[in-house]
Amino acid sequence: MTEPDLSCTIAGVRFPLCLMNASGALCVTREELEALGRSRAGAIVTKSMTLEFRKGNPEPRYYPFGGGSINSMGLPNLGYQAYAELIPALKAFKKPVIASVAGLAEDDFPEIARTISKAGPDLIEVNLSCPNIPGKPQIGYDFEASERLIRKVRAVVDRPMGVKLPPYFDPAHHAAMADVLKRAPVDFLSLINSVGNALVIDPETETVVIKPKGGFGGLGGSVIKAVALANVRAFWKAFAGRIPIIGVGGVASGTDVFEHLLAGASAVQVGTALVEEGTGVFDRLAGELRDVLKKKGYPSSTAAVGKLKEL
Ligand code: SIN
Repeated sequence: MTEPDLSCTIAGVRFPLCLMNASGALCVTREELEALGRSRAGAIVTKSMTLEFRKGNPEPRYYPFGGGSINSMGLPNLGYQAYAELIPALKAFKKPVIASVAGLAEDDFPEIARTISKAGPDLIEVNLSCPNIPGKPQIGYDFEASERLIRKVRAVVDRPMGVKLPPYFDPAHHAAMADVLKRAPVDFLSLINSVGNALVIDPETETVVIKPKGGFGGLGGSVIKAVALANVRAFWKAFAGRIPIIGVGGVASGTDVFEHLLAGASAVQVGTALVEEGTGVFDRLAGELRDVLKKKGYPSSTAAVGKLKEL
């Protein structure tokens, strides 16, 4: 059998490999973004940008543990103007550039999106789900605000845009967000952001493990894979496979990528495993995914998308 094709197309944009960094993982500075450009990653995703430069939350704000990680970074980033200047240079790496747009207030999003769209990213990912800004709830849990915001951003961008959503834990909430997205359509979905406001405790020291928000933070890594898969599957079914999905959550092996594909993802993003392993993780995951697809007889990653069997 010839080697399986691991490329994919999302919203008309071709990705040479269906694996990329999750926004937030090693993608704040120019050096980090260029390292992603030089790596095997199929795209370069920027850190979620805000109007102004942000130092982020006080440290320690990231803590890996067996099975995952917890973080409360607080959107440290260079500010959108800096990313607008960087994007043209990142395009020299000849892979898609995804600009992740955030904000501290609803009107920040369209302001950032208008400028960043002109800088020429291939796709814009609107982050409706950061759990780590004290006093700012995750927008994706407010369906009316999400719809308003999507419409405002859509009106000012001329690039394909998607939304990065928080995890939902009830079919009624999957349905409510799917209804929002039917009224205010987007070109792709990134599912899911970290599982917000979790608490990891070190029983030895009897302390929390990160400083912000009394130790509360977003959970990532293998422990959230099942939640991520459920969200990918729920939205894939809600749209009968008609919106491309980027799966995020718990990808640490080629088999994890394969499970995301089966659930309905066309590509996956890697967070905790990238932070822990560095950009070499994309070579390892690509090799493992190729082996899984070959063993299973799939000619391409695309051929596995949505093929999950139900009992
Ligand atoms: C952070 O910077 O706190 C994480 C960003 C996110 O979860 O959206």
